[in-house]
Amino acid sequence: MYRIIKSVPKSLFGKGSFNQMGDILDEMRKDKDSYFVFLVDDYFKEKPLSDRIPLKGGDYIIWVNVDDEPKTSLVDKISDQIKESQSHMASAVIGIGGGSTMDYAKAVSVMLTNEGSSTLYQGLNLAKVPAVYHIGVPTLSGTGAEVSMTAVLTGPVKKLGIKGEFTPFDLIIMDPELIKDCPKNQRFFTGMDSYIHNVESMDGINRNSISDSYAIQSQNLCREVFLNANLTREEADEKMMVSSYFGGLSIGHSEVGVCHALSYGLSYVLGLHHGIANCIAFNNLEDVYGEHVREFHKMVELHEIDLPMHISKEFTKEQVEKMAVTAFGLDHMWRHAFGLEWQKHVTTERIIEWYNLM
Ligand SMILES: [Fe+2]
Repeated sequence: MYRIIKSVPKSLFGKGSFNQMGDILDEMRKDKDSYFVFLVDDYFKEKPLSDRIPLKGGDYIIWVNVDDEPKTSLVDKISDQIKESQSHMASAVIGIGGGSTMDYAKAVSVMLTNEGSSTLYQGLNLAKVPAVYHIGVPTLSGTGAEVSMTAVLTGPVKKLGIKGEFTPFDLIIMDPELIKDCPKNQRFFTGMDSYIHNVESMDGINRNSISDSYAIQSQNLCREVFLNANLTREEADEKMMVSSYFGGLSIGHSEVGVCHALSYGLSYVLGLHHGIANCIAFNNLEDVYGEHVREFHKMVELHEIDLPMHISKEFTKEQVEKMAVTAFGLDHMWRHAFGLEWQKHVTTERIIEWYNLM
C-alpha cells in the first residue's frame, strides 16, 4: 500500500502579505460573473480585519461560528447555501480564521463539487471530483491545518477527516501580523498542537527522514517561541507561523500518536477544542512521551497558562467509555505509536486509565 503526500502547491509568506490578496484575486476574475466566497471566523465580524477583506462585485462573506469543533452538519448547510444561491460555481473559496475555519473552507470546497452529504466522504480519498479552488489564510498558528491533506470533521457517528488529494489548499497566505492579537491561553494551546505534532511524528513507525527534518526544525522554532524570553512578539509570531507549517508537513509525512488519539475522544464526547484537548491529554502522558511532557510542563509554568486539571472527576462512566471507544478506533495513530502489534500494548482499559489521570 503506497501513500502519496500532497501538500499546498503555492504559498505567500510574510508580514503584510494579507494586503496583497486583492491583487491575487483580481488576476483570477475571469469575467464579470466571477465571484469569491469568503468563509470567515465570526470572531472577526466587528473587528478591523473584516474591513480589509477585498470584496468586489458578487463576492460575499459567510461568517462561520467555530465555538464547536467543525461539524459535517454545518459543512452541508454552508455548501447547500452556496449551491442554492448561485447559478454558477464560485471562482474560489477563501477561508480566513483558525484551524477550524481552515477545515470548513477545505471541506466546503470539496462538497461544492461532490454530491450528497459530507459524511459520505469522511475517510481517505473518497471524493471523486476535484474541489473548487481554495485559499487558506490562517489567523492562528499551530494546528498545521493550513497545509494538511485533511479537513477534520465531527459527524453523527465519528470524528474523522475528509482526507485526500483534493482537500489541501491551492494557495495559502501566511501573514504573521494576523496572529498578533491572539489571547495568551489560546495562542499557547494552539502553539502546543505544533509541539505535540512534532513529538508524535518523531516517535513512531511512520517516521522517516523527511518527517523528522520538518519536525526537528518545527520543534526548534516552537522552543524559541515558548522558551526564549528575549524574542519580541513580532519575531515569535513569525516563527510560530513557520513552526505550524513545518509541523503540519511533518505529520503529513508521518502520523500523530497517543495524545491525538486521546484528544479526539475528549473533543468528540466533551466538545473540547483540539488545542486545549491536546494539552489536557499531553499533560498526563509522561509514561509515553517522558522528557517532552516535562518540557511542556516547563512551558505551561513559564507562560502561566490556565490548564484545566482534574477534569476526570466530572466524567460520567458512559462518557469515559465513549471516549475510550472513540480513541481506540483510531488504529492508524496507535499503530504508528506502538507498532503493528499495538493491541498488545493498548486496550480500552489502558485508555480509560489515561482518561482518569486527566
Ligand atoms: Fe493536532
